[in-house]
Amino acid sequence: MNQDEKKSSAARASLDYVVDGVVLGVGTGSTVNKLIDMLPEVRNRISAVVSSSKATTALLENLDFEVSTLNSVGDIDVYIDGADEATKHRHLVKGGGGALTREKVLAGAARKFVCIIDDGKQVGMLGDFPLPVEVIPMAQSFVARKMVKMRGQPIWRENFVTDNGNHILDVHNLSITNPLEMETRINQIPGVVTVGIFAHRPADVLIIGGDSGVRVIGK
Ligand code: 5RP
Repeated sequence: MNQDEKKSSAARASLDYVVDGVVLGVGTGSTVNKLIDMLPEVRNRISAVVSSSKATTALLENLDFEVSTLNSVGDIDVYIDGADEATKHRHLVKGGGGALTREKVLAGAARKFVCIIDDGKQVGMLGDFPLPVEVIPMAQSFVARKMVKMRGQPIWRENFVTDNGNHILDVHNLSITNPLEMETRINQIPGVVTVGIFAHRPADVLIIGGDSGVRVIGK
């Protein structure tokens, strides 16, 4: 199976969580795009859909889904999203697509967070993937210096502005031995909007597409 097929099989398995009457949160990225293409098959089960990015909203609207705001629906029943890295503890690094802040909000508002990945995203320890940090533009250099003090190498994501009007620092070579502690520490730096570590609110269910079908961790 190639990577694309693995993403599709994880996305298809996540349809089991799109139960009758669900208020569904939809993440961002190429894996979730596979899911979005499948959502018309289960349209009648979805009572409302909330999106984590302008890109996802455009795709959903293109399929004639009316996208609700989080403020109007209250909590989300099920949030489905991809990740850039995932451990067996269901701790994640996210934000490769730059949508990490809205993704973290939807994950936080969700009763169940289902993460869909191909098996190339599975890691023993987070940190090989450069860690995305969304920062307000005037704090970019200050936050970058803080990252260097933490022994990371921050690279400004050039020509990229988030849906919230902010910048992204991709921090290379951090060893994330304690994801909970590092998430807290980076989030406390003034000017950081959010860091792409999802440890305080990990996925509840991790669906991994591999050569021999899907493997599910959590429930
Ligand atoms: C976007 C994300 C995505 O979930 C993550 O980058 C994975 O994307 P893909 O499915 O394209 O590999 O966090 O901000």
